[in-house]
Amino acid sequence: MEVNVKVLISEEDVNKKIREIAERINTDYAGKELHVVCILKGGVFFMCELVKHITIPVTHDFMSVSSYGDGTISSGRIKILKDLDESIEGKDVLVVEDILDTGRTLHHLLDLLRDRKPNSLQLCTLLDKPDRRVVEVPVAYTGFTIPDLFVVGYGLDYAQQYRNLPYIGVVDVEE
Ligand code: IMP
Ligand code: MG
Repeated sequence: MEVNVKVLISEEDVNKKIREIAERINTDYAGKELHVVCILKGGVFFMCELVKHITIPVTHDFMSVSSYGDGTISSGRIKILKDLDESIEGKDVLVVEDILDTGRTLHHLLDLLRDRKPNSLQLCTLLDKPDRRVVEVPVAYTGFTIPDLFVVGYGLDYAQQYRNLPYIGVVDVEE
């Protein structure tokens, strides 16, 4: 079995888009302090590039979650593998994630975070696959809307590999 990765979105295009998102965030949150909640592991690569271009005061925290049970069945809940270190009460929280797919994970995660009474709660994803959506999730910032393809790179993995690719690629498995 041979695995090939084809470039879908180049490193230059991804980085340019991330800078644009950061500029929008700087404008939208002007005069405020931003608290970024990065979703491990996939969101890390996007978050690091994004916050380099944030010019307002910004703090960071990390969370790791997984769906219960089989991914093809809506579990209705998520399991917290690593919770936040700090309270988000009263903060302007921006959740940073790699991709919005069915929407199940982020839907439940946003519910959970909303219960902790942040001042505001918004979502920022590098990629969006709207064709796969099962639950509607409001997204404030999206990098690229892509078709229903399995992508890797910039934090996204295939069997835990390829997260380090500096571009977004499509996995092509030849039997
Ligand atoms: P969902 O929106 O609850 O279905 O789950 C989204 C999660 O599924 C993401 O955080 C990724 O970890 C994973 N995922 C979805 N689509 C892809 C893909 O194309 N490549 C790699 N991981 C993906
Ligand atoms: Mg993920």
